Amino acid sequence: MDVIDLANYGPALRAEIADGDPDPAGVAHLGLVWRDKTGHVGVRHRGRLVAHAGWLPIHLRLGERRVAAAGLGGVLVHPWLRGQGVGALVVRAVMDRMREAGLPVGVLFCREQLVPYYARLGWQCVDGEVVVDQPDGPVAMPLRTCWSALHPHPPAVHAPLTVDGLPF
Ligand SMILES: CC(C)(COP(=O)(O)OP(=O)(O)OC[C@H]1O[C@@H](n2cnc3c(N)ncnc32)[C@H](O)[C@@H]1OP(=O)(O)O)[C@@H](O)C(=O)NCCC(=O)NCCS
Repeated sequence: MDVIDLANYGPALRAEIADGDPDPAGVAHLGLVWRDKTGHVGVRHRGRLVAHAGWLPIHLRLGERRVAAAGLGGVLVHPWLRGQGVGALVVRAVMDRMREAGLPVGVLFCREQLVPYYARLGWQCVDGEVVVDQPDGPVAMPLRTCWSALHPHPPAVHAPLTVDGLPF
């Protein structure tokens, strides 16, 4: 398995990793509009791209404070290779990229059943309302929001929390 930085990542590569599943993350029913990630890390196995995670710089609003952070999203492992640590490999690699960019905390959105998975990788849930933007205005995020410290003295991330811009 090779961890690689991808210059380009789009729907065609995502469809290849998803192996034909049109909604591998199970969030299509929410009807949310998502933001493209700007950094992309992949895992290559026997010449094929088998996993991806993306990230981007974001801003959080915590009360009166506007805090720089990193958003993690688009985590996907080929169905045949799940349960073998590939997801952990690619998530940790993206966390390294976010840390190297000097961002103090990471934020991600996930379904309830993945909260224990991300907890094992150092992420904890925000309890309370999280607001994100959508084209028609701000909405309460229906997924769980988790955050992770990337540096020794990160700002505490807590509700009520607003994430500037579309979710990722
Ligand atoms: C979530 C995902 C990225 C995990 O990748 P992976 O390579 O299987 O993960 P790892 O091998 O590092 O860890 C496996 C563990 O993840 C947990 N896990 C994986 N998918 C899960 C799911 N859908 N629900 C609950 N737990 C899950 C399992 O508890 C498993 O634990 P075990 O090792 O005790 O069996 C992968 O299942 C996937 O691509 N899912 C579809 C896309 C998706 O939901 N992405 C997350 C968007 S936030």
